[in-house]
Amino acid sequence: MSLPTLAPIPELYVSYESAQKLKAEAGNLPSWDMTPRQICDLELLMNGGFNPLKGFMSEADYDSVVSTMRTASGALFPIPITLDVNEKFAESIEPGQDIALRDQEGVILAILSVTDKWLPNKALEAEKVFGADDLAHPAVNYLHNQAGRVYLGGPVTGIQQPVHYDFKGRRDTPNELRAFFRKMGWRKVVAFQTRNPLHRAHQELTFRAAREAQANLLIHPVVGMTKPGDVDHFTRVRCYEAVLDKYPQSTTTMSLLNLAMRMAGPREAVWHGIIRKNHGCTHFIVGRDHAGPGKNSAGQDFYGPYDAQTLFAEHAAEIGIEMVDFKHMVYVQEKAQYYPANEVPENTTVLDISGTELRRRLREGIDIPEWFSFPEVVAELRRTSPARAKQGFTVFFTGLSGSGKSTIANALMVKLMEMGGRPVTLLDGDVVRKHLSSELGFSKEHRDINIKRIGYVASEISKNGGIAICAPIAPYTATRRAVREMIEAFGAFIEVHVATSIEECERRDRKGLYKLAREGKIKEFTGISDPYEAPTKAELVVDTEGMDVDHCAHQVILKLESLGLIRG
Ligand code: PPS
Repeated sequence: MSLPTLAPIPELYVSYESAQKLKAEAGNLPSWDMTPRQICDLELLMNGGFNPLKGFMSEADYDSVVSTMRTASGALFPIPITLDVNEKFAESIEPGQDIALRDQEGVILAILSVTDKWLPNKALEAEKVFGADDLAHPAVNYLHNQAGRVYLGGPVTGIQQPVHYDFKGRRDTPNELRAFFRKMGWRKVVAFQTRNPLHRAHQELTFRAAREAQANLLIHPVVGMTKPGDVDHFTRVRCYEAVLDKYPQSTTTMSLLNLAMRMAGPREAVWHGIIRKNHGCTHFIVGRDHAGPGKNSAGQDFYGPYDAQTLFAEHAAEIGIEMVDFKHMVYVQEKAQYYPANEVPENTTVLDISGTELRRRLREGIDIPEWFSFPEVVAELRRTSPARAKQGFTVFFTGLSGSGKSTIANALMVKLMEMGGRPVTLLDGDVVRKHLSSELGFSKEHRDINIKRIGYVASEISKNGGIAICAPIAPYTATRRAVREMIEAFGAFIEVHVATSIEECERRDRKGLYKLAREGKIKEFTGISDPYEAPTKAELVVDTEGMDVDHCAHQVILKLESLGLIRG
């Protein structure tokens, strides 16, 4: 089993000449502009990374994969690879038709010959594939709140690879890696999957794995899509490059994988194994909590810490790749060395810094010891995530019309400007509707567009080190969450629920709108004839009844201080 499969793997690309011809013809086909996740999936379908799949799954394959981890013909494949589209596009397409799959610039990458079109049971998909229909799981959230309602399936004809402008020289298709291993005479290769910067524990783990398997080492980080909130891949790759020279050059290589992770724990581990086998590897490292999604909405882990190893062990022979399993690695002070948690010598002191603790130290500019990481890696991380008090962030007020959002937001802006240091922008509901969203009304669709525009602007401000204060009604939980994710990629997001009751807002009725809404003269009015989904996880709740504006704004200032975003 440890003999590598270094023969070329089937790809879905046609020849260069056929591709040129097809591309010209495909200009007349209906076309679908793919999402970033679909582009990642398509790349791995076309280059053989998802072998034996030959396209986006049909309904029969999907049903079978969801319930049994196998395609209808029995091939092991634990994650559904589906093309989700919106209803409007789906209505215009019938099975039997070809569609052009385009990237976000409109470049045609492939043709999908549609065989199937169906409405998936997403709740069932969530339960079976991710273990729970719980929106705290990033892929379940994606499934319900981002993915289209309709799935299309069918074989794919590959025209060209998705274009990448970054780290070109470090990206390899399965066949390029296989060819490299062949050329180097590497018969055994152990792959290390990662979505985090490499610290000393990872280096020790990979050294041990390579030693145990007597194999060469492929560091195979994911640069497609990882867990929301992860360190961005540009920073990570610079970190990997900084530690690469600490590995023996003749037996180690690094290649970037444009995979869109799902954080599906055990099923994801098996999927990763299949992908690495396709890339010519013979061994695969599965550590503690492989591809773990974090806590569920009840605050518990979705999967047990070693569930992924158990499921992988059951399928390793069938995949044709050996698992190198590892316990959590910890540092033993007296030995000045890393050990797997279950092999720590007696009466010694164990040191460990969790991911959360590392993020806290980076945030607060606290020392990160050399036993934990490499100075080059720490310097790189500090460069992209300066201490919190220097980063941009967004304060997002939400609440009913007339709840006091704008007044508190204004007071907060003035207080922050008095402190100085960072530029402050107020994106008030009314101001936004005048300058950004003047054509929009108050249907759910229009409100969502409005909020996402605010989120986009706020994320740009936060990214560039400023403070954005937003004060729309933002009545929908899912949209607020989407905005949170957009912003948390760059800085902190502080949701403040201005929880003034509808009775009080209506009693105040500063703009006379409630009266008009009651009389039916304003339709879809939040709290009267349109829903307001109150936040359950806001960073702060302020109640304006019996509390003056200055005090409310001061509560936000205290919250920002406690989060380290402003210095006390
Ligand atoms: S949303 O839902 O977040 O897009 O709304 P927002 O952009 O904050 O706009 C709310 C302001 O628009 C006025 N207005 C209405 N509000 C709610 N429902 C309906 N149908 C409506 N029609 C007009 C209202 O003045 C809101 O301002 P605030 O400052 O919240 O009172």
